[in-house]
Formats: sequence, structure tokens, C-alpha cells
Amino acid sequence: MEPISDDPPAPRRFTRSNELQARLHELIPGGAHTYARGADQYPEFMAPILVRGNGCRVWDADGNGYIEYGMGLRSVTLGHGYRPVLDAVHRAIEDGTSFSRPTELELLAAQDFLALVPGADMVKFAKNGSDATTAAVRLARAATGRDTIAVCDQPFFSVDDWFIGTTAMDSGIPSEIAEGTVRFHYNDLASLAAVLESRAVAAVVMEAATALAEPEPGFLQGVRDLCDRHGTLLVFDEMITGFRWSAGGAQAVYGVRPDLSCWGKAMGNGFPLSALAGKREFMELGGLRTDHDRVFLLSTTHGPESGSLAAFRAVVHEYRTDDPIGKMERAGRRLAAGVNAVAADLGIADYLQVLGRPSCLIFVTRDLDGRPSQEFRTLFLQELLLRGVLGQSFVTSAAHTDADIDETIAACREAAAVYRKAIEQGSVDGLLDGRPVAPAIRRRAAPRRVPSEVE
Ligand SMILES: Cc1ncc(COP(=O)(O)O)c(C=O)c1O
Repeated sequence: MEPISDDPPAPRRFTRSNELQARLHELIPGGAHTYARGADQYPEFMAPILVRGNGCRVWDADGNGYIEYGMGLRSVTLGHGYRPVLDAVHRAIEDGTSFSRPTELELLAAQDFLALVPGADMVKFAKNGSDATTAAVRLARAATGRDTIAVCDQPFFSVDDWFIGTTAMDSGIPSEIAEGTVRFHYNDLASLAAVLESRAVAAVVMEAATALAEPEPGFLQGVRDLCDRHGTLLVFDEMITGFRWSAGGAQAVYGVRPDLSCWGKAMGNGFPLSALAGKREFMELGGLRTDHDRVFLLSTTHGPESGSLAAFRAVVHEYRTDDPIGKMERAGRRLAAGVNAVAADLGIADYLQVLGRPSCLIFVTRDLDGRPSQEFRTLFLQELLLRGVLGQSFVTSAAHTDADIDETIAACREAAAVYRKAIEQGSVDGLLDGRPVAPAIRRRAAPRRVPSEVE
């Protein structure tokens, strides 16, 4: 084991970032365009405002560089500014981005997509993942004539009322909408059976797997069978699993075919694209080849914008000709092994752990009593930021090289030494600067309420 340096890390200033963050709070509610990107998700005086990225590295407004994890809320799998994707986008947008009729590019992108996802017969593109999951919900309701949606107890499916109404941040959402969404438990077929027996359910919406939870043998097939028995559509949310578990998503990994699936995030390596895909008999309800009442199924101005479709095609090409998933998994395995070894060396393996699927790692930060702790999480984030690592998770990309991972492990070794001090003294007092982070979706701004300039 290398000795841990007692020297404090080279000073990093966050002066400009803090000024910009204050101004962002003035102009944009929450000071960010995604709650998960909010300043309240970072140490209070250390929320970098970024100015550029390259590969797995990003730089902030004060000139600090970082190795980044999470990669644009998991939307970037090939690395920032990935040249072949940029070149494809440049070529496409030079000829215009939005027209009054479909382009050939839309057909080519649809062909690429359906070749990757053999369980799907048709696909429709949009910009946000939430649009796709909400479209799946509407389609399932129309196809079944039922209203209730059963969602798995997983973190997130949509910004729309049918899902946000079930969270702690349900202000402005009529309670009857939220009542139309019921929960069941992952890897618990009995809980799903109970829901399907008690109500007529239009769709079961779930991620086939998450970073921390793989399906137990027979679970997904059991879900499929229950849906078939009850005339309920099965919808897989492939937002995170798509292009991270496999190019064909979780359905390709676990071999269970949903009726509909919803895609987004990494489809365009950060360019905005999402998709609803599924079986022809359902998807056609949104088309012109039906005598049924038509379903208003994803009709957006920017849905077919050329730049993102060209990005998508370039991404598909990379997945066909290279092995980005192998690369990000390799990086993840090296990182998990390295950080967990550091924690074990320091005797804090019960408190600081890196867990999850290698392409989708998270870190768990526990307090002295073994409870997940926002204070200890914030301390770890703070110590990593001071040492040039930015990440709310340890989600890797294909751009994270062995050298990047080793540099991260070295930073984690020093950060973990501070963590150990906190464990030894029983609290983060004197070590953590400012208030701890808080869950992104919560009822009140407290405990990270930001004073307004007029107060
Ligand atoms: C599993 C899952 N589904 C759906 C969404 C919504 O996607 P978007 O933010 O593109 O609307 C997210 C976003 O984080 C997600 O993680």
C-alpha cells in the first residue's frame, strides 16, 4: 500500500463557479435544468459550473479540471466531444436540421434502431425519455381501455404527472392522476400478482434491471407471464440499460420481450434523442394503418431533427464496430476493485463501498451506525472534488482509460483517509464545509434552501 500523503491537496478555488451558480439561481428555478444536476446535489460551496469537456475529463469556470463520472446523467457512453459522432453531426446539419416532411435519415435511423432491438417492430423518435415513457402509458391505456399503471419501485420513469404524482414532489398534480399509478416490488412476483388481481392494469412499467438489482432467475419471465394472463402491456424502460447493458438494452441481455420499450440517454452520446419502440399491433394505433381511434403518439417539432439522428447512427456504428460496453465495464471493474481495496486497507470497508453493475457503479457512504448518510456522502464528494474527481456516482464511459481510473483510485485513497477521520470521530464536524446534499426529489427546498437576493 502506498503511503497516503498528509499534504492537503493543491488549492482549488470555486470562486467563479459560486458566482455563476448564484446568478443561475437568479435566472433559472433550481439553478439548473435538471434537479439531478442541481447545486444541492454537491457540497455547498463546491458546485462546479462547467465550461467544456473532452473524453472523460471536464473543466470548470475556475479552470479546475476533473475526471468525470456519471457522464451527463449517463447519456454519454463514448466520451465528451467524441470525434466520429461530432463529424457525423456536422455533416448532417450542414444540410439543414428541420424540414416540413420526413427525411431519408429518419428511415435509416429507424432501420438501425430496429436492427439493434429485434423485439421491436416499429419505433418513433422524440427528444426526452419522459416523452417516450408517457407515450407508452397513453398507448397502453388506449390499447387496453384501462387507466391504471403499475410501476416498479425504481427511482424514476418520467417528469409527467402519472409518475411525478407518486413522488414527494407532487405539488400541482391532481391526486386522482397519482391514484392511477400503483407500485409493486422488484424481484417480487407476488407483489405484482396482487396489484394485477386487485385492479385492471393497462401497463406494467419497469426497468428490467438497475445498477444494484439484477433479476432473479425467472423473475422477468414471470412478469411477462403475469402481464399476458391479465391482458396488461409490459413496458421496459431502457433509458439507463440501453447502450449500457447492451446496445439492444436489457431485453437483449435477459431475453424477455416487452410489448413496448422506452429509450433515451446514451442513444446520441449526449445529443438529445429518445424513442418509443414496440410491437406493431400497438404502435400502429398511433399511425394511419388502423381503423381504431387514433392515439396521439409522440408528435414533436424536434423529434426528427437531423443532428441527433445522425449522432444516433454514428453511435450505432461505434457499437457495431467497437466494444464500448466492454471498455466501460473494464473501467468500472478496475475502479470498484481499486476503491474497495482502498477502503479495506483503511479499515472502512463497512462504511464506504463501490457497488453495482460495472458499467453503472454507485458509491455507498454510511455513517458510524451503518446508515446511508448524506453528511458522509457530501464529505466524500467534497474530498473528491478537491482532488479532481467529479461524480455523484462512479458511472464510467468507454473514454475512461486505465490511467484515468488509477488517478481516480489515488484521489479516492486520500478522500477515504479523510472519511476515516470522520468515522473515527463519529461525525463530519470540522471536516465538511457547508450543508450536506439532499435527495433531488423532495417536498421542500430545505435543507438546502437558497436565500434569494431580495430576502
Ligand atoms: C430510468 C429513467 N427513465 C426515464 C427517465 C426520463 O428521461 P428524460 O430525463 O430524458 O426525460 C430517466 C431520467 O433520468 C430515467 O433514469
